[in-house]
Amino acid sequence: MQDLLDLESLSKQDIIGLLDLSQNMVEILDRPIKKVPTLRGKAIVNLFFEPSTRTRNSFELAAKYLSADVINVQKSGSSVEKGETLWDTARNLAEMAVDGVVVRHQVSGVPQQLADILDVPVINAGDGSHEHPTQGLLDALTITQAKGSLAGLKVAIIGDVLHSRVARSDIWVFLALGADVVVSGPPALLPQKYEEFGVEVTADLHRALTDADVIQVLRLQRERQSSKELPSLWEYHLRWGITSHSLSWAHPDAIVLHPGPQNRGVEIDSEIIESSRSRILPQVRNGVAVRMAVLFRLLGGGHDE
Ligand code: CP
Repeated sequence: MQDLLDLESLSKQDIIGLLDLSQNMVEILDRPIKKVPTLRGKAIVNLFFEPSTRTRNSFELAAKYLSADVINVQKSGSSVEKGETLWDTARNLAEMAVDGVVVRHQVSGVPQQLADILDVPVINAGDGSHEHPTQGLLDALTITQAKGSLAGLKVAIIGDVLHSRVARSDIWVFLALGADVVVSGPPALLPQKYEEFGVEVTADLHRALTDADVIQVLRLQRERQSSKELPSLWEYHLRWGITSHSLSWAHPDAIVLHPGPQNRGVEIDSEIIESSRSRILPQVRNGVAVRMAVLFRLLGGGHDE
C-alpha cells in the first residue's frame, strides 16, 4: 500500500491486516504512557480544507503518539486564500521534507489527484461524497470489538446515504468482512446502484431495522442537500429517526454507531446516544488507533531501537 485513498480497492487481506494492527494500537492507547518511538524523525502534514473535530485531531494525536512531527494546515490562514492552488500548496509543503500528507477536501477525488503529483504517501481523511476510509476502518473495528466479527451480521446504515462518504467506505468494508448490509432513508437520498453490490436498498425503516445487529446512523448533511431532497426535519425524525421506538425493531443486542457530528433529535435521539447501546465514543477512541495503524503502515516505521 502506497497511499490510502479508499476502501473499495483494498483486498479483504489488506483490511484484516489494518484492523489487526489497529487492535495492537488500541493496547498502546490503554497504556499510561502512550508515546512510542515508531515514527520518530518523520513529519506529517494534515491538510484540512473542510471542518473536522474527530478526524483532524485524531490524526494529529495518532502521529504524536507515534512520535512523528505534525503540522496542521487549513484553508483559512493559508496562501490558498491569496489564490494559490491546492496543488501548489501541497507541492510546496511536500518539499519541506515531509513524509506523509493527510487530506480532507470537499471535492471528491482530491486525495487521488494529490497522490498523482506527490512522492510521499497520501491519506484520504474524507473527500466530498466519495470515501472516508479511516472512518470505515474504525467502524469495522468498533463492530468487531462488540460482536467478535462482522460475518453474518445484519448492518443497517440509515440516513442520507446519497451524500455520505462514510456510507460508501462502510459498505465496502462491511461487505468485504461478510456482513449483510441494508441502507435506508428518504427515497431521494438512497442510491439504487448499491443493489448491484449486494446491498439491500429500502426506504422502509422498519424493514431495514428488523433484526439488525448493528445500526450506523448517518448525519443529515443539510449543507449538501437541495431542499427538494430533504423532507422537513420533523418528518425526517418521524420516519427515519433512531428513537427508542424504532430501535425496538432491531435485535435486542443491537449496537448503535454514529460517525459524528450528531444532530441530536433529528437523525438520532439523545437518549439513544447516551444509552448502553451506543458505541459512539468507542468509535472516536478507535479512530485514534486506526489512524496510528494507517500512519505506521504507510510511513513504514524504520526506527532502529
Ligand atoms: N466522523 C468525522 O469525519 O467527523 P469529523 O468531521 O469531526 O472529522
